Amino acid sequence: MSEFTYQGGVFHAEQVPVPQLAEQYGTPLYIYSRTHLIRQYRALADAMKSIRPHIYFAIKSNSNLAVIHTLANEGAGADVVSGGELYRARKAGVAADKIAFAGVGKTVAEIDYALGEGIRFFTVESEEELTRISERAAALGSVGRVAIRVNPDVDPKTHKYTSTGKAENKFGVDLTRAERAYELALKLPHLEVVGLHMHLGSPIMSPAPYAEALEKVRPMCETLKRDITTFRHLDIGGGLGISYRPDQAPLDPRDFASAVLPALHGLDMEVGMEPGRFITGNAGILVTRVEYIKDNPFKKFVIVDVAMNDLLRPPLYQAHHEIVPVIQTDESIFGDVVGPICESGDFMAQDRSLPAVRAGDYLAILSAGAYAFVMASNYNTRGRAAEIMVQGDQVEVVRARETWDDCIRGEVMPTWS
Ligand code: LLP
Repeated sequence: MSEFTYQGGVFHAEQVPVPQLAEQYGTPLYIYSRTHLIRQYRALADAMKSIRPHIYFAIKSNSNLAVIHTLANEGAGADVVSGGELYRARKAGVAADKIAFAGVGKTVAEIDYALGEGIRFFTVESEEELTRISERAAALGSVGRVAIRVNPDVDPKTHKYTSTGKAENKFGVDLTRAERAYELALKLPHLEVVGLHMHLGSPIMSPAPYAEALEKVRPMCETLKRDITTFRHLDIGGGLGISYRPDQAPLDPRDFASAVLPALHGLDMEVGMEPGRFITGNAGILVTRVEYIKDNPFKKFVIVDVAMNDLLRPPLYQAHHEIVPVIQTDESIFGDVVGPICESGDFMAQDRSLPAVRAGDYLAILSAGAYAFVMASNYNTRGRAAEIMVQGDQVEVVRARETWDDCIRGEVMPTWS
């Protein structure tokens, strides 16, 4: 169910007309529905309630403090992948013992910060990282809790840039080497081995790859659980897909549960999950203003004020985002939606039937709550968009639009030049 709907022919974010928001706050404008965030979180927690999973919200999908805070209030922890994300999670009110820290390249400074905060565990990606965490814990007089990320070599059937659990990916420790990694972890003096982690990729539209991967890692979990008293946590990662097209069925959390719960049955371990997109993806839209309509002998271009610096997914992954008018119309045109950036890759849609718009009209780009604002940049010295959150008829700016001064903050002209 969407919180972005037409009411009387006007597109609304919950109870608020989108054209009014565009006029008031300007464009490009990210709009998030708080109700949708909560609904998605609860749907997943409810589907899995028989095992009461630890849900670590993957804040890389949308790390606005208001979004993290909304989910923390619901009881979510956080999956973080950098010192910066850990800092955000703590600022937004996530308890340190509800935070898992993943990522292949954790620096000494990041490890020290996480140890100091007392996070729940590190998801460890290599033997060298185990050694580094143990050394840093020794130096700080603490203990590093670790779950080793294993790579189960399962095809999640998604874009090659966002597949992570296949043998050729940089992530995790190969299943055949995982035993050796656990032996090392047990020998290192300042580590506590708390579990096993896997993440297959994203977005995954069927529960089958999860069940397949669980089947592969289960024997190892059983052995480790028997041999290591502190080994009790199995983190099954994130990746649950959402619908990006009107005819695309999202991964239903009840179907997910029906496939995954039997695979976990009798294992008697605490289960962790790291959903990001499932919660945030369809909680957001990106509103843009049409600047020009341009025809050339081959094509029609709708030139908008959103560009690849605001939303990188279409150029980077050839990802599809629905684009709808904020005032309903039955008339259509055919062409591309492009931004003002000086690259031919700067498009939001290509060769598509589009609403018939004119300069000055607004369009809404849907499914822009995950991996959207967080992947924005200042390319072409464009300030990043404003972000607002809506709940019912309430509206709050949760991140101010960046100014040109924000874009040049910290830059210096050398005195010697
Ligand atoms: N856990 C780990 C270890 C991850 O690497 C990721 C995503 C997640 C959880 C959350 O996945 P989700 O539930 O949000 O699908 N920028 C790409 C997606 C990159 C995903 C990176 N890792 C995109 O726009 O599709």
